[in-house]
Amino acid sequence: MNRLLKIVFLSSILYPSCQKENLSLCENLNNRLSDRVDFYLGTAVDLPNLLNNQDYSQIINNQFNSVTAENIMKPAYLHPSLNTYYWTEADQLADYCIANSKRLHGHTLIWHNQLPEWILNYQGSTDDWENLLREHIFQIVNHFKGKVSSWDVVNEAFNDDGTLRNSIWKEKLGPSYIEKAFNYARQADPNAKLFYNDYSLAINPMKRTAVLNCLNSLKSKGTPIDGIGMQMHIFNSFPENNEISNAINEIWKNDYLVHISELDISINPFSHAMQIPPEDELKRQAEKYLYIFKTYDNIPDQYKFGITIWGVSDNVSWIRKFYNRDDFPLLFDDNYQPKPAFCKLISNL
Ligand code: XIL
Repeated sequence: MNRLLKIVFLSSILYPSCQKENLSLCENLNNRLSDRVDFYLGTAVDLPNLLNNQDYSQIINNQFNSVTAENIMKPAYLHPSLNTYYWTEADQLADYCIANSKRLHGHTLIWHNQLPEWILNYQGSTDDWENLLREHIFQIVNHFKGKVSSWDVVNEAFNDDGTLRNSIWKEKLGPSYIEKAFNYARQADPNAKLFYNDYSLAINPMKRTAVLNCLNSLKSKGTPIDGIGMQMHIFNSFPENNEISNAINEIWKNDYLVHISELDISINPFSHAMQIPPEDELKRQAEKYLYIFKTYDNIPDQYKFGITIWGVSDNVSWIRKFYNRDDFPLLFDDNYQPKPAFCKLISNL
């Protein structure tokens, strides 16, 4: 074995999870991942953790320069009854962002999930429903004007087969609710970037095509849609890397800002019991994170809105609770320590 091979071999035994990575870079958490890229790097934030958990808040302070509220800016939280809005918690987050120079992305105005019960039960004419949509958007966007840079105006409006989802909004207002929502949002805050946000846009070209066809035709009528959020709740093995780059490239080529808006990479698609993440899966995860960051970095600058990771550390990831499976999808582990994916990114970007 020549000398070089020996060093590589020995270091891979000593540092199995971070081989080829620069350990001093990833162990010193004062090195900021957001400094390594020339686009915004965001994370989904849970307010109680931000306020009360130092390990958690330190990672956000150090590593990210953009923030999305994981829940507290959704309709169920902000709009608890017809004429009541609840700003307290979202305002605390907005104040944090101003004090700490973080961009705040608004998520989300119109969605079929996490709606308050009263909207689902609302009785009214088509005009009443249109007023409801307009007031909801006006009040919320206006409240955060100047503090929120951008909004997911409509979230998850499409089914996997490319048809429009039967949400309460579509049921009451027809497909035009999408166009109306964007128009109202632009009227309320002409400076906010407005996004359509959805999942499976990389793995499912049929859905992506349907979304692009719909948004392109709205844009050609003057509807103010600035960008597309690709959620990217994905797995190590799918979608494949080339499916991801095809999707990202197709979206900017259609003249939309691209926001990778909710990135996490799961490693346990078949929900096996998994108390400790297998080393090889963590390595594959690291490679996939790096592939996505590099692919994104290569798109023209004017189309980069940023990459937002959907959470800080594996112990707080929504995946475990929501899908009830062991998983390890984020950049930091259960003890807020950097994982191979973080090391990979910070050493190679
Ligand atoms: C998730 C949150 O992370 C969870 O805490 C909550 O229980 C459910 O919603 N797509 C979206 C996000 O647009 O708002 C979802 O967030 C994840 C899927």
